Parts: sequence; C-alpha cells; structure tokens
Amino acid sequence: MTHGGIDSTNAPSYTMIKTEVQGRVAVITLDRPKALNALCSELFHEINDALSRFDNDAGIGAVVLTGSERAFAAGADIKEMKDAEFVSNYKTNFLGHWVEQISRMRKPLIAAVNGYALGGGCELAMMCDIIYAGEKAVFGQPEINLGTIPGAGGTQRLTHAVGKSKAMEMILTGSVNLDATEALSYGLVSKVFPPEKLLEETIKTAAKIAAKGAVSVQMAKEAVNQAYELSLSSGLHFERRLFQATFATKDQKEGMAAFAEKRKPDFVHE
Ligand code: CAA
Repeated sequence: MTHGGIDSTNAPSYTMIKTEVQGRVAVITLDRPKALNALCSELFHEINDALSRFDNDAGIGAVVLTGSERAFAAGADIKEMKDAEFVSNYKTNFLGHWVEQISRMRKPLIAAVNGYALGGGCELAMMCDIIYAGEKAVFGQPEINLGTIPGAGGTQRLTHAVGKSKAMEMILTGSVNLDATEALSYGLVSKVFPPEKLLEETIKTAAKIAAKGAVSVQMAKEAVNQAYELSLSSGLHFERRLFQATFATKDQKEGMAAFAEKRKPDFVHE
C-alpha cells in the first residue's frame, strides 16, 4: 500500500484497496481485479475505513475513488450474497452500512470511473459528489437479471440523475446501459476523458477543490445535498444561513481581502 504524506506509520494494511495521498488529495483505488472489483463485505469494509480516516484527517481536502481500467466495480459480490436470507439481511441491515458511511462523509468525494460500473458499482459512483468517466465506462443496473432489484440507491439516485423514463428502462430491462457519452448527455457524469487520462484529470479537480477553504467547501457540499431533501423555500433558507455563517470564517475574510487587494487568497481552512 502506498500512503504518502499523513499517518503512513499507522496506515492499515488493506488487501482489497490501495490508498495514496498527493498533497491534500487522497486516492482510494479498488483493487480486487480477479472479481472486477465486485463489492464483497471486506472490500466495502476497507473502503469505509479509508473514507472515514481521510474524512477525519485535517491534511486531506478531497478524496478520489477509482477502480481499474476494466472495472470501477461490477456490483455487489453475487457469489458472496447468493445464499443470504431475508431475515439475516433484515436483522443486519444488509447494504445499509454502504450508504450510511458515504453519506456521512463531509469532504468531497469524486469518482473516477473507467470500465464497468454495474449494480452496486453504479450505485457507489452515484454516492460520490462528482463523477468523471473514462471513454469506455459503462453504467448499468442489471440486478433484475438476478431476480432482485438495486439495493444501494439505484432506484433513487439514478432516477434523480437521468429522469424516470431512462431509469425505468435501465432498471426494468437490466440490459440498457449508458456508455460514457450517454452518461454525460444525461448529466450522470460531468466530464469524460480518455481512459489513461481519467485519474490524472480527476486528481486535478480534487486538488483544485482541496485548495479552497475547507469550511466553505463542506458547507457548499451540505447545501447542494439538501437540494435532494428539502422544498425550494427550505433549501434556500438553509443555504442563506450557511452563506451568512461563512462570514465567521478566516477564509471568508482572506478570500474577499485577496480579491480587493488583487492577489491570490491563501486559505487556512478555518
Ligand atoms: N460478483 C461476483 N463476482 C463477479 C461479479 C460480481 N458482481 N462481477 C464479475 N465477477 C467475477 C466473475 O464471476 C469472474 O470470476 P471468475 O473468473 O472466477 O469466473 C470475474 O469476475 C470476471 O468476470 P467475467 O468473466 O464475467 O468477465 P466478462 O468480461 O465476461 O463480463 C461483466 C464482465 C459483464 C461485468 C460480468 O462479469 C457481469 O455481468 N458481472 C455481474 C454484473 C452484475 O450483475 N452486477 C450487479 C450485482 S447485484 C448488485 O450490485 C446489487 C446492489 O444493488 C448492491
């Protein structure tokens, strides 16, 4: 495991992911190639652990989540879950921990998706704040072919992202997938790059975000996410209160002073 910069002596030894730190950006790479990064419990446990560590590390301003050129992730691990039963799924809240950890994440999380992002892989990408795709990326929700349905946000987040008709078509047929160009046209992803450039370009965006004042970045993320939860008037109220609160930060003073003095701001993330 590469783990430059922070906390390298105490970094856990993961077996299914790699982590790396470049300046204020952390990169988590899913690394279970033989199963196309199928999301087994151990892989998700490691992702959650790394996310939580980076979220709590003041030296990190943004996190990138990526896979291999062949697969971001080909879904939940079918072989692991095939014999599961309703009662144990229900009692252990199976898949609940996937969604809960990532939705608690305060720092921006950017997905760099090359290759397959199917089922839970597509859902994992959609839990991120921004998705960038490589030209050969494939997004789909094939769970219906397995006699089940998306269980980690596909019916909700995909519908928000691409609209009801396309989401229904994808989820009900299990075979209508989006390539990178289509995903861009639907707004599911915000940029497409050649596969070999994807990670580098994603890290550039993450570094740009990580250089802004961390408090306003966190507030902006929180406010955008409320657009999915609140009525317009409640959302606007929430936004205005956070905007007003930014004036209690050193970074607002620095940002506006720097503008007036025609220089670049030097944010201290306070
Ligand atoms: N779970 C477990 N193993 C998987 C997997 C998955 N989701 N996806 C791929 N693998 C394994 C394959 O079994 C295979 O392993 P072996 O070599 O041991 O046989 C290896 O990864 C390589 O896969 P393929 O040989 O199938 O590769 P391919 O290039 O021919 O096909 C693919 C690629 C189209 C992605 C195909 O692997 C596939 O259809 N995978 C399943 C996709 C899927 O149905 N995902 C949804 C899962 S359910 C879910 O995610 C629920 C939810 O909402 C959370």
